Amino acid sequence: MTLIPQLLINVDHVATLRNARQECFPDPVAAAVLCEMAGAHGIVFHLREDRRHINERDVRLLRETVRGKLDFELSTNEEVVDICCRTQPHLATLVPERREEVTTEGGIDVVQHRDLLQRTVDTLHTAGVTEVATFVDPDHAQIDASLAIGADAIELHTGDFAVAATGSEQLERARQLATAAAHAHAVGLKVHAGHGLDYLNYGLFRSVVKHVSEVSIGFAVIARAVLVGLDVAVRDMLRLVKGG
Ligand code: PXP
Repeated sequence: MTLIPQLLINVDHVATLRNARQECFPDPVAAAVLCEMAGAHGIVFHLREDRRHINERDVRLLRETVRGKLDFELSTNEEVVDICCRTQPHLATLVPERREEVTTEGGIDVVQHRDLLQRTVDTLHTAGVTEVATFVDPDHAQIDASLAIGADAIELHTGDFAVAATGSEQLERARQLATAAAHAHAVGLKVHAGHGLDYLNYGLFRSVVKHVSEVSIGFAVIARAVLVGLDVAVRDMLRLVKGG
């Protein structure tokens, strides 16, 4: 039976727009409510060290208001890990973070930063965060290292697939993702995926990559929402995720 992924919407970009004018609107918390009302299964946010979009007030209110699954993306920064422990999201996803990047630029290197990541996974589990994922490139060594440090899930970085310059490169990237997803599934990890997934590339992703239980999509949905409204944008993506 084909697994239909749950759709979690990343609301960081709503906060980016708010912060661009140092205003109190648009509110990512209000956006999260509308996403869930349109059928999204959960909400994702990334609390960055520099607080460029989501801030502590958002985290507090999202924790209180989100009814579905809440995914807290974070780096290994101690202060942010501490906030995540206190927030008790349903899922914590460990991502790399560089101040100068526009958005997350690739998977976290679990092989290289194994000790630090293992300590962070332990800290989150001990605090009662029951599901911890690592955001990784589609690479067996990264997946095996994620299992070894005690992660419950991986989120496959789909960014290289999303920006592939040609159709054949995109197909090759999709096949890499498929092989990685099958491997992660075989070793007992849950498989999530995200970064750069959109209304055009989702069909190919879905037809090639199996075993994905959750997708995390932000920019494409929020960008479409600016023109057609959040309700329509989420429902359109949900239809694709469900195979429509
Ligand atoms: N997953 C992770 C780990 C991310 O860092 C991001 C970007 O914030 C996404 C998914 C969503 O990517 P996009 O906004 O391109 O849909």
